Amino acid sequence: MGRQIVIVLDFGGQYNQLIARRVRECGVYCEVRPYTTPLAELRALNPIGIIFTGGPNSVYLDGAPHVGQEIFTWGVPILGICYGCQLMAHALGGRVTAAQDDSAREYGKTVTYFDRTCRLFRNLPDRGITWMSHGDYMEKVPEGFQLAARSDACPNVAIADEARGFYGVQFHPEVNHTEHGTDMIRAFLYEVCGAAGDWTMGDYKRAAVSALREKVGDGKVLLALSGGVDSSVAAALLAEAVGEQLTCVFVDHGLMRKNEGDEVEAAFAKWAMNFVRVNAEERFLIKLAGVDEPERKRKIIGEEFIRVFEDEAKKVGAVDFLAQGTIYPDVIESGAGDAAVIKSHHNVGGLPDFVDFKEIVEPLRLLFKDEVRQLGRELGLPEYLVARQPFPGPGLAIRVIGDVTKDKLDMLREADAIFREEMAKSGEQQRLSQFFAALTNMRSVGVMGDGRTYDYAVVLRAVTTDDFMTADWARIPYELLDRVGVRIVNEVKGINRVLYDITSKPPATVELE
Ligand code: XMP
Repeated sequence: MGRQIVIVLDFGGQYNQLIARRVRECGVYCEVRPYTTPLAELRALNPIGIIFTGGPNSVYLDGAPHVGQEIFTWGVPILGICYGCQLMAHALGGRVTAAQDDSAREYGKTVTYFDRTCRLFRNLPDRGITWMSHGDYMEKVPEGFQLAARSDACPNVAIADEARGFYGVQFHPEVNHTEHGTDMIRAFLYEVCGAAGDWTMGDYKRAAVSALREKVGDGKVLLALSGGVDSSVAAALLAEAVGEQLTCVFVDHGLMRKNEGDEVEAAFAKWAMNFVRVNAEERFLIKLAGVDEPERKRKIIGEEFIRVFEDEAKKVGAVDFLAQGTIYPDVIESGAGDAAVIKSHHNVGGLPDFVDFKEIVEPLRLLFKDEVRQLGRELGLPEYLVARQPFPGPGLAIRVIGDVTKDKLDMLREADAIFREEMAKSGEQQRLSQFFAALTNMRSVGVMGDGRTYDYAVVLRAVTTDDFMTADWARIPYELLDRVGVRIVNEVKGINRVLYDITSKPPATVELE
């Protein structure tokens, strides 16, 4: 018995974890293994199917990754993607060559025509956009295979040997740009491999918990909890796995939104672990006094955070593991090279140098953000935590323009809470990526009752974005803006003007500082 498993055989492509994620999304358990894994080891896993990933090489070059012939005779269905497709074609007697002219090289979105008698494409429209990224070309299709899809430039975009359950696609079904890509993967899993769809995030949780228990043994684990989604879910998972061996240090820097610190603390009350909340507001405010330059604020907060954490870590004593809530997109991004620093985003990435520990554990390293949220729900974390929008590490300090004081922070917290409350009531928040209030350092004249006021202006910001690299300002209803504006001016002392930010990123950024 045991759970069904699909192996994603890794040939060094960029999207391998994305393939794994799609398989999981289809309710099937999968593991990514390097292509060098001995066949006996793969067989021992008893997979219902194998997916060959893409990769940067050309199959006909010396030293290009290959697999033994036995994988094709063992009777397991295979889906080859891009390089994986070419590899299969090459191994089974087809011919793959460099595209002679540019017209046969394909990169980007390509109109593709599907043969709907193929099991992969049976329930799809007869054409769709696929995402291509290949310079090689299948000149001769191996024996037993039929053409299953074509594009205007290329007659053999997909090949199929229905009898053996072998399929190859030149495009990337796992990326969002490919229309119906997940449907193709689902068809492979269910129609070809006979998947039962027996895998859930609950299974993932149980497997992760037992793997963590095994790894940690009776060691001590320390985690810096920010209250963001990732560190919270990592904390909950570890709490579930190792209970009191875990110490979470929650540095409350006094720069959180209204009630946030208490909410975070409340969410973890159900686990028997060591939860340390450090009220460090004063420490941070002293350091920030009079500082108005955004990057300087970030630096001060980042450094102070480490100091506070370090002090607490010393109290805990030597730990075996430092846990971090790194998620898969962080893993990819950290390899992204040296793009210009627009803002030095602070998170807890700098900690390892300062704390005495033996090893790092990153239990969310292979998960995507929405999977992390799902796992958080599975662990019983409250919705306000798992559905939380991104919140910058330096918190409200970079949403108070200019120097930061407790009074300004309190004003901003109230205004922001009103904005959030009205957004939640209106249902608008579901379609927005991020929204918040920021306090400007501009004071202007107003009239309230019969008196003159000379108070601060608050800015409301709401954006939609896929990746936060670019963002569009959100067109939220005037009536909603009106309600928020009226309430803020009436309810928050010290604010007499409310502005709405209508700049996109670029040229602006999401945060005002
Ligand atoms: P920007 O303002 O750079 O924001 O367009 C893009 C996303 O990053 C968040 N952000 C930060 N996150 N530390 C963080 O952890 C920071 O210093 C920081 N600055 C911006 C911002 O909230 C948005 O989601």
